[in-house]
Amino acid sequence: MISWSDVLCLVLVGLINCQNSDQTYPNVTVTLRALHPKGFRAYISANADQTNNIVFNGILYENMEKARNSESDIGLLWGFATRKAHSEWLFEDHFVTLAVGTVIKYGIFIPDQHPKGASKNGRASLTLDGAEPDFKFFRVSYLVDPLTPGPNCLPTLTKVRGKTVCAGEVIFQDNFDTLREDLWQIEQYIPTDHPEHPFLSYQKLDTDRNVYVEDGILNIVPKLQEDLIRKYSSILTGSLDLSDGCTRRKCSKVAFGWDILPPIVSGRLTSVNFAFTYGTVYIKAKLPDGDWLYPEILLEPVFKKFDGQKELASIIKIALAGGKREITANKKHRGMPNMEQRCYDGRQYTISETLRYGHGTYNFHEYSLRWTPDVIEFSMNWNPYLRYYLTDEGWAYRCFEDVSSDFRPSHNDYLQLTLGVAAGGTSVFPDSFVTPHGRTKPWNNSDPKASLKFWQNRDSWYPSWTTPNLIVDYVKVVAL
Ligand SMILES: *[C@@H]1O[C@H](CO)[C@@H](O)[C@H](O)[C@H]1NC(C)=O
Ligand SMILES: *[C@@H]1O[C@H](CO)[C@@H](O)[C@H](O)[C@H]1NC(C)=O
Repeated sequence: MISWSDVLCLVLVGLINCQNSDQTYPNVTVTLRALHPKGFRAYISANADQTNNIVFNGILYENMEKARNSESDIGLLWGFATRKAHSEWLFEDHFVTLAVGTVIKYGIFIPDQHPKGASKNGRASLTLDGAEPDFKFFRVSYLVDPLTPGPNCLPTLTKVRGKTVCAGEVIFQDNFDTLREDLWQIEQYIPTDHPEHPFLSYQKLDTDRNVYVEDGILNIVPKLQEDLIRKYSSILTGSLDLSDGCTRRKCSKVAFGWDILPPIVSGRLTSVNFAFTYGTVYIKAKLPDGDWLYPEILLEPVFKKFDGQKELASIIKIALAGGKREITANKKHRGMPNMEQRCYDGRQYTISETLRYGHGTYNFHEYSLRWTPDVIEFSMNWNPYLRYYLTDEGWAYRCFEDVSSDFRPSHNDYLQLTLGVAAGGTSVFPDSFVTPHGRTKPWNNSDPKASLKFWQNRDSWYPSWTTPNLIVDYVKVVAL
């Protein structure tokens, strides 16, 4: 049988130089979390200001008896912790799968100094000197949701519906490893109350999918309805029935005269189980490129505000570009708190030169939005470029007022996330707008036949839809 410190040395062979030392350890408290469905965290508090490194050193056993006897370990869990705050450290392993009942024998190793690199028998090794840690046992009795706050919860202004959160806590996250229908509702409806009146329906397609995850990336793809309906039907004379799986009010339509079926089928995801007040949203995405397409990366209030029959344009756009390439170029912006043209005007000077339209626009960028009680700040690739001060009686405030007299995101509003792609519409593109390819807008916004004219013109715009997908790498929302 191997002895205690032998195990330690075997575990960290080449890493830690086990020593007998009289040195006492600074105060260390550790909170361990086995995460669901996988992963592990150790929150470490240590009065060890002078220390630059903390190593979590764990050995896994099937049960307590084997752990106490150091017998037949089933895995290792160790590595450097990262400093989170003055005396707070975090060790994380994203990949380990821990079962209820597993026992972790662990110690916190605080090296005397920086690691020393060395080469031993032709192999690189790292040496850390320090006193052997006290070992403790932790039995996994349940698995914890990764979004559960850490043990040292600092207060925050951020609110999340239905739970308490801590400052700096990740309150929503999707890296799109799979399509998480527990996080997102895949919408299916005809958006008659959409403030931009796009020429589309949102559909959840089982075959020929328009919303899917591939290689850890979310794709939302606009398609032509004509390619999807059966041959005897037509968007000019047919009918569309989306009631099976309908997620909103309107889900069926019969074409009549110029009032054709929505010619485009797109996808839209809503974080129906997650809504928050104040926080920072980070989205890494590649925006759709094609005439008359534009991304929908936005925050919407859970409780919609109504102005008579019409839903108010009470949304915050986090990123804006796409088929509006030229508009975007002229206005030099990539995100706006709303979509009314009059709010764009006069704003372009606020945007940094580095964000001018140019090559690389249609690559991945990280868009972020910081929403606090006082300011809404937009950033692209970590550069803030637009701020709306809500407490100021200045222009930003007025613009919100103009657009939707009722909507000023405040501590009373819970906003949810929406991801989608839209096409056409009667407010996004000004009349007589000309695309970079020299195509003039084929419909007038006030024309009741707008959708029909858009459709009749498809031979001109459809070939430009070379990369119509909205592609999202991750979405993360962090508490203030
Ligand atoms: C350890 O922590 C306790 C309580 O926080 C404190 O009273 C004590 O002085 C600390 N000891 C050391 C050696 O830092
Ligand atoms: C838009 O309206 C103007 C003025 O009525 C008209 O001249 C033009 O032909 C219309 N354009 C389209 C695409 O319908």
